[in-house]
Amino acid sequence: MYILGIESSCDESAASVLQASGRKTVILSNIIASQIDIHAQYGGVIPEIAAREHVLNILPTIESALKQAKITHRDLKAIAVTQGPGLITSLLAGVETAKALSLVWNKPLIPVHHVIGHIYANFINQSTSPRFPILALVVSGGHSNLVYMSEHYHFKIIGTTRDDAAGEAYDKAAKMLGLDYPGGPIIAQYAQEFRNNRMASNILLPRPMLNSPDFDFSFSGLKTALLYQLQKDKDWKKRRPEYCVAFEQAIIETLIHKTIKAATKYSPKSIILAGGVAANQALRQQLQEKITEKLPKIKLFLPELAYTTDNAAMIASAGYFSYYQKKNKAYLPYSRLLARCDLKM
Ligand code: KG4
Ligand code: ZN
Repeated sequence: MYILGIESSCDESAASVLQASGRKTVILSNIIASQIDIHAQYGGVIPEIAAREHVLNILPTIESALKQAKITHRDLKAIAVTQGPGLITSLLAGVETAKALSLVWNKPLIPVHHVIGHIYANFINQSTSPRFPILALVVSGGHSNLVYMSEHYHFKIIGTTRDDAAGEAYDKAAKMLGLDYPGGPIIAQYAQEFRNNRMASNILLPRPMLNSPDFDFSFSGLKTALLYQLQKDKDWKKRRPEYCVAFEQAIIETLIHKTIKAATKYSPKSIILAGGVAANQALRQQLQEKITEKLPKIKLFLPELAYTTDNAAMIASAGYFSYYQKKNKAYLPYSRLLARCDLKM
């Protein structure tokens, strides 16, 4: 069966076609119209501009996804769309488009939680699927969560951020360091250059909540600590790569420490990494090293880079497993949903 995925929660209008049979899924197309260049000049996403761009891009993106998958809408089994969380004006473009297409094409509509979408990026194109129970570390611009999954579509949040998400902390630190938006990949690049030169950083930054008894994160104090150090250092611009590596290591070591602690308590069979920050090579490598050292029986799954930052393939993947789990009964074409409520067209 074919599932169309649609994602528009922030500054990417995205559409994807997934082909599935049983537990095996293949992505046939993954189209993303990114607005990053437009928002970069403002140092962050401007919701009004994002909404207008989505309105322009969403239908051509869906058309391209169907065309590249070499199917027509008649071949689709269902439409999966990000229902939230995200910027409401951005979400509306995707959700209203999906509702309209569900109505005119008479296809079931599957609402997908954005964070669940990130988790299901780990079920795309894997030669072997993650085995349950699963511990997921979700790190994006809006979320930092440790999620326990006993089976498909059963989620228990066991840790969350008390303030900034990991990606948000990267982006804010990048601003302090005079770097562009989004800051995560740029900090990562400077940090990697510093590591490649085999130099040791003399900058000490805190590892927040490392010894707290829970599995929560907090990154706003780390950001403030960075700010104070920059204010005291007249030469900080010359030491930018060193600040980047110090900041990145503080985030990575905190994320890994809490993940290992949670895995020790919950004994999952697999650990999966998800969200935009999962694109970070140092995090991927150091998490693998720590798991091999401390919990060698647990297998780590890493999503392909194309499915780490926002995309619609992960929404199609989550939509498919939700549809599969509920044995199709829960999802109806929008026309039948309308008939169930008082809304008259
Ligand atoms: O998942 P995502 O695309 O959007 C949200 O759902 O928020 O994540 C975007 C976040 C941004 O904060 C961005 O700076 C961060 O992911 N990011 C990275 C890297 N690539 C993207 N952070 C660290 N290292 C990277 N390579
Ligand atoms: Zn995201």
